[in-house]
Amino acid sequence: MMPSAQLPRRCWAEIDLAALERNLKLIRASLPPGIRYVAVVKADAYGHGLPQTAARLMHAGADLFAVANIAEAMAIRELSADWPILLLSAVLPDEDKYLAEHALAATVSSADEVQRFDAVGRAAGRPIDIHLKVDTGMGRLGVWHEQAAALYAQIRAASGVRLAGIFTHFASADEDPVFTAEQRRIFVALLAQLPGLDPTSLFIHADNSAGLETTPGHGGVFNAARVGLLQFGVLPHPNSLLARVRTEPVFSFHTRVGLVKELPAGTGVSYGRTHTLRRPTRVAILTAGYGDGIARACSNRGAVLIHGRRCPILGRVCMDQTIVDLTDVPGEVRCGEPVVLVGRQNGAEISVAEFSAWSDTIPWETLCSVTKRVPRLYRNAAGV
Ligand SMILES: Cc1ncc(COP(=O)(O)O)c(C=O)c1O
Repeated sequence: MMPSAQLPRRCWAEIDLAALERNLKLIRASLPPGIRYVAVVKADAYGHGLPQTAARLMHAGADLFAVANIAEAMAIRELSADWPILLLSAVLPDEDKYLAEHALAATVSSADEVQRFDAVGRAAGRPIDIHLKVDTGMGRLGVWHEQAAALYAQIRAASGVRLAGIFTHFASADEDPVFTAEQRRIFVALLAQLPGLDPTSLFIHADNSAGLETTPGHGGVFNAARVGLLQFGVLPHPNSLLARVRTEPVFSFHTRVGLVKELPAGTGVSYGRTHTLRRPTRVAILTAGYGDGIARACSNRGAVLIHGRRCPILGRVCMDQTIVDLTDVPGEVRCGEPVVLVGRQNGAEISVAEFSAWSDTIPWETLCSVTKRVPRLYRNAAGV
């Protein structure tokens, strides 16, 4: 059987690794001096492909990788035996041993976790690196800030763990600067009351992409930022001040025309006949559907680019096919021609944010929802 990598493409994503590298450098240049770069590459690097993305971010000088789980960390370990890695999600008890085996830093939120990791570090004869996470109002992982000083004292007394970082996470950095400032204030006040804290030996971090909009110009006590979405060239919200950083999209999403045909006015289109043609219509049947990552919620809402023109989606998106209106595209459109779902074509653009809005979701989810059927093609794989 022919390997699928050699077959013609029906739906694919293009990942521009040179843009990723430029983005990291632009973000770094926009930050106060001395801020270390924590590259958030969980969920297969937001769907971009973890090994390829992490390798390029290493080349670009990421200081630390943040992932969700051990499997993701081990994918990075295949690239580098010692590049620092932080697990952002809770570690399960049967995963503890991998912290020592693969030199992974764990997020700590509780006394129980300190005891577990302390035991693992003592048994291994080498302390486990931990980042103490403080809940300043996210209501997810982290020790509640009022109990953080006690947990800090417990960590200092445990010989099997080494405090490598302290951090918090913002709940609404993209929409509530007042609450974000309050979370920042609580965190900074806590740091000031922790005895023996040596910021030079720790990663002290809070900002995700949206948080960077409100980073104090001098960095304050913070010496690291955890960047996910922005490094992929997507803004955390439409009016983001981070537009000034001028990152570029790394991801684009493509399919092709499978069939062109004319249908009479009054015809119902696709499952459920949720769209009825108001005029004689030239339609294109595309070779991608929700089985590839075009959300079914884009039915009758979204559009695609063909010859640089916007063509509305007609009726329901199907598993492998999507129907669009070609009537207003001048000239002939042929079977096999390229279609842009997300990205640029002849000066027109559909952004990840716009594509996401059609299905009432956010760019983070869209990027994670391109399915494994869709090959990722890596552009500019050689270093810049
Ligand atoms: C704890 C934590 N830090 C940082 C990030 C990165 O956020 P963003 O993609 O908005 O930069 C995430 C993303 O979900 C996260 O969960």
